[in-house]
Amino acid sequence: MRSSLYVQFFLIILIFNISLLHAQIADVIPEKLNPSFHASRRQALREELPLNSCAVFFSNPIRNRSNDVDYPYHQDPDLYYLTGFTEEDAVFMIFKENVKIGNDTTNEVLFVQERNPHTEMWVGKRMGPYEAKKYLGIKLVLNAFQLDSIKSNLKNLQTILYYDLPEDIRNENYNKTDLFDLVNKFNKMEKPVWLSSDKQHVHATENSIYFPKDRHETLDSLMGELRQLKQPEELEILKKAINISCLAQIEVMKAVTPDMSEREIQGMHEFIHKKFGAGEEGYPSILGGGSNACVLHYTSNNKNKVGNNLVLMDVGAEYGGYTADVTRTIPANGKFSEEEKKIYALVLKAQNAGIEKCQPGQEFKAPHKAALEVISNGLLELGIIKTKEDARKYFPHGTSHYLGLDVHDKGNYGKLQPGMVITVEPGIYITENSDCDKKWWGIGVRIEDDILITEKGWENLSVLAPREVEEIEKLIKEESFFNKVLLRE
Ligand code: GLY
Ligand code: MN
Ligand code: MN
Repeated sequence: MRSSLYVQFFLIILIFNISLLHAQIADVIPEKLNPSFHASRRQALREELPLNSCAVFFSNPIRNRSNDVDYPYHQDPDLYYLTGFTEEDAVFMIFKENVKIGNDTTNEVLFVQERNPHTEMWVGKRMGPYEAKKYLGIKLVLNAFQLDSIKSNLKNLQTILYYDLPEDIRNENYNKTDLFDLVNKFNKMEKPVWLSSDKQHVHATENSIYFPKDRHETLDSLMGELRQLKQPEELEILKKAINISCLAQIEVMKAVTPDMSEREIQGMHEFIHKKFGAGEEGYPSILGGGSNACVLHYTSNNKNKVGNNLVLMDVGAEYGGYTADVTRTIPANGKFSEEEKKIYALVLKAQNAGIEKCQPGQEFKAPHKAALEVISNGLLELGIIKTKEDARKYFPHGTSHYLGLDVHDKGNYGKLQPGMVITVEPGIYITENSDCDKKWWGIGVRIEDDILITEKGWENLSVLAPREVEEIEKLIKEESFFNKVLLRE
């Protein structure tokens, strides 16, 4: 009788703790991908692995900002894609076949930091193995100090695929199982004979890789094959990131005035992102007024007044790990000048030509070729260049990249396929003192949209943010609640 009371009490406490954790997990923004999504991605990778092999993924290192302050932590996107795990100091291993680790038979194992009330008081809750297994659905989760338990498994494999091991890792002297220790331990473990390839290390007994001769896979290309095709669950989250970014572009168009600083405009974008649950940006926001728009990856954003100039705004909300990448270029005073309008119209025409090439079966470079052709002809007509080849002086970057967990997402740059999301982002940048009439100097324009390749063609996921000159000029005339917030004297 007494012992059954104990059991009941224990069960009540256990259920209370689990439901508390569940409530905590359900009560965070943004929403997360379902564990079944990550499980399906693990299975998809497993199917592509060589026989008798394992792939190893370390968590991203913590990066120090200064003294005892770190940058916000960002998980390695491959590890996140395969597990949903967002904590630091972890390593995930996925095996082709079942292996025996201790008493468990499994084809995957995640090593995580153990729970520790003292640490958690400072840095927040950790999952620990029990909850990671329960909530992420990974078959085996162990404490990081148990890494040695896979020693004999590694030795008996034919192939181990892993990326270059993380460097520049801090060695916490109070933690003997941090990333530094995990990497060192792994490094010392006996492995099959070494083969190397560009972006990864492949360890294998000689001539034992089962890939056919014409198949030159790397871990990077295997992950690229998977990540370049977005699953419906991913698209749902990515679309939300993009919608939030478009909404910010719209609100900023309504609010912008020539006496605003670049930073103020950046802040308005990022406020809207956060308001809708995007914790961060997928890359440092690019807010360039006037000739700053000609700096491709301008991030200082410290011009005091953008003035009567174009403002290039390349800003992407990151929601649920997925990032948007949207650029709009607008006149701060509400009206494009004649020269600005001509350059803007040319970039828009090039972008539309690029978007039209976003069809399944087209080469990855097809949108770029189409956009470059339009810009080359247009710059010739405007007398800005004398030969078509000179167009690259003013349009020096590519037109497209994959988009997803990374802003420049993984993918294999083959033919376009339904389910891919790519950017189409031509631009023209005419720096001061360029070799053309000075009426063009200081004009920088980029227009960037996020395009989903569909069975029939394409869908512009960032269509919500206006691109046409008239639409933009009309929107700038509207009032924004931001103008009622007196950030300035
Ligand atoms: N925001 C970086 C890029 O457009 O690629
Ligand atoms: Mn981009
Ligand atoms: Mn961009």
